[in-house]
Formats: sequence, C-alpha cells, structure tokens
Amino acid sequence: MAPGSSLPAEDTDDGASQPAPQFGMEEQMAGLSEGERAANLKNYQFSFQQNLDEGTGKSVFIEADSIPVVRDNDWESVTSSVVNYRVENGRTYHAYKDGSYLYPNDTDEQDRQQFEHVILQHLMGGRLYFAPFSQEHPPRRILDIGTGTGIWAIELGFEYPTAKVLGTDLSAIQPTDVPPNVEFYVEDTRDEWHWYRQEDRFDYIHTRMTLGCWEDLKADVVQKSFDQLEPGGWFEAQDLLSSILCDDDTMADDNPLKLHFEDIEDATASEGRPLNSGDKWRKACEEVGFVDITEYVFKVPINGWPRELRWKELGKMWEANCLHGIQAVTYGPLGRIRHLSRNQMEMLLLDVRKAISDTSVHAYQKFFIVLGRKPYPDEVGQPAGVTTEEDTAMVDC
Ligand SMILES: C[S@@+](CC[C@H](N)C(=O)[O-])C[C@H]1O[C@@H](n2cnc3c(N)ncnc32)[C@H](O)[C@@H]1O
Repeated sequence: MAPGSSLPAEDTDDGASQPAPQFGMEEQMAGLSEGERAANLKNYQFSFQQNLDEGTGKSVFIEADSIPVVRDNDWESVTSSVVNYRVENGRTYHAYKDGSYLYPNDTDEQDRQQFEHVILQHLMGGRLYFAPFSQEHPPRRILDIGTGTGIWAIELGFEYPTAKVLGTDLSAIQPTDVPPNVEFYVEDTRDEWHWYRQEDRFDYIHTRMTLGCWEDLKADVVQKSFDQLEPGGWFEAQDLLSSILCDDDTMADDNPLKLHFEDIEDATASEGRPLNSGDKWRKACEEVGFVDITEYVFKVPINGWPRELRWKELGKMWEANCLHGIQAVTYGPLGRIRHLSRNQMEMLLLDVRKAISDTSVHAYQKFFIVLGRKPYPDEVGQPAGVTTEEDTAMVDC
C-alpha cells in the first residue's frame, strides 16, 4: 500500500464494509464506571495514526520498511571477493579494492547514511539536487558516484521514471528491490571508466558525501565526469568539509572535537585521501572546463545551539548523526594510520562525544554544493575560473 493511503475499512457481521469508527476519548468513555473506563483504555485508539488524518476520518497507513529483508548482500551478480568484507575492531569494511577506503560499510553505517540523507534534504530546503532538471526537463541518464546505500539514486529513479539511473560503489550494500530504471555496479571510480560506451554518455553526474574517498578529486572524479557527460550535461558534487568551525569565541583552541577532526584530517592527508576536501570541488570544476559553475555553502550546526528553531532542529539531527558516525570516522584513520588500539580510540572518543553535545560551543561544519555544466563545442560560455562571489550563498545559523 502506498504511503499516505488509508487503512482498509472494517468488516461488519453482515460482511458489509464500514469505515473504522473514529471517536475521541471522551466519547468512548462517556457513561462508563471507573473500572469500565480502565478496562476500556486498552481498546482506546491511542495510535498517532488517528491524529494524522482526522479531516477524512481515516487513519494514515505507515508502510513497513522492506529494506532489512533484502539488505543481506544477496547480490547474485557479485562474486564473494566483493562481499567477503574485512572485519576490524567490530566494524566491517569493503572487500573490493580492500583497504582503499577507510570507513565501514556495515548496517550500522548504512543506517547512519539513510538518516544523513534525510538531514541533508532538510538542510537543502527539501531538495535532493540543484541541477536544473524538472518533470518538464527530465534527465535522461544519471550516474551517482559512491552511491553508498543507493538512497539518492533510488529516489531520483522514482522522481524520473523515464531516466536511467546508475549507481557505483566499492561495496555491494544497495537493496535489490529498487525501481526498474535503477542499477548498481561495484566499481572503483578511480579506475579507468572504460566500461561506459560513447553512446552511454550521461546528462547528469552526481556524487555526495565522498569526503575521504579521493587522492585527487579532479583526476579521480571531475575530469572523468566532464569527459563522460554529453555537451550540456550537468555535474553536481555535494560534500562536507569535515573541519569544525566557529564564528564567535565559544570554541577553545583545545576543543576535543576540533582537535579530533584535525588529527583525522592530518592522518588521512598523510595517507593520500584527505577527509577535508569539500571545498576543493569548485576549483576542480573550473580547471576542467565546466561553465555556469555555482557553489552553495551551507553551515551545519553541530548540535542544537542555534536560537532559530529551523537551525536548532537541524543541529539536533546533526548531533545525532555525529554521535552515530564518530566511531566510523575514527577507527579507520586512527587505527590503520596512527595504529591506535580500539581501547585507545574509545578513550579519546569519550571527550569527543561530550564536545559534540556541548551547546555552549557554537560549532558548525560546512556543506558544499558545486554545480557545473559541460559546454557545447561551439559555445562561447563563461570562461573557467570566473565564478563570482554572488554565486556563493552562505546560509547563516
Ligand atoms: C559516506 S558514503 C556516501 C554514500 C552516498 N553518496 C550518500 O550520500 O548517501 C561514501 C561512499 O563512497 C564509496 N567509495 C569510496 N571510495 C570509492 C571509490 N574509489 N569508488 C567508488 N565508490 C567509492 C564508499 O564505499 C561509500 O559507500
């Protein structure tokens, strides 16, 4: 049943269907003794479903999630070398190109990514993308690089049923019950893209939250995307700058969260795939020749410190995301590169977790969205490198 549709009507003794009665508590309890009232409470429809759609007198149906049933890596098309995941410090990591990406792929991380997807959509005012596509002007072929759980690709597949959506990732963690126009492939984006035929060019290439994935995001992603887009096609990167920032003097230089991310940034930079690369997409897009480049920068409060309700709620969600993900972002860099033990890392995380939830510190991270269009061959477009400051929108907390 589709979300938002109503519960089935109740069957009566004579077999006729009647709408389920919708009474308030007072009406249900009228004329009953104290004991009868208590006994009757168990029949009272406490469900919040009832309140959701009081106008129609019907309850809203909340569809159950089918993903846990199918998210068991039962990909028939992938070999065991792809799903034979590395287990380390209680987390699992991708098997294909084992060791090349430092962050886990287990169900805990997948759940965090699904939650983060919702937060990012809130952050972007309900949008999933900024490329100028619409139902009147739908994309034809979409590529989602580093698709993770595939949630973005799946939602685009629903939104644009006539488009073909391909998602690629090192891990085969995507569900199998997806729209028919959505496909996932295990692939290392840093390899040559020789499996894409010329006629398979894309008109939209997207990548999101791939911080820590790339040695050289221009060579690994942006140049290849430019080459593989058809003229007029759009590239869009949505990425977090991991650094912990603050605009007033509430964050001390020795803030444990700030120091922790600086340490992870140093470790990952020394190993070749820096975590704090979110602010590098725009320059890379300019250098490879994209035009109409636009950059949006959102501030994401670390917790509920902002006064304004919209940012407070967003901050609270980001706090939950940070608390959920801090182990995942720590274990690979500090375990593999700094050779810290699990106990040592957990000791560090005690103070880091407290700092994440400290609302006296007005800390935030930056989320970047960079859009660029591949010019037509004979187009006199915006020359590379002239993106103006007006193109940058800083959303204040
Ligand atoms: C933090 S997740 C983001 C997932 C998704 N884009 C989202 O926003 O929900 C980053 C993903 O990039 C994938 N990844 C890392 N390095 C990659 C590579 N070289 N080629 C393809 N995917 C890669 C990881 O396996 C992981 O699933």
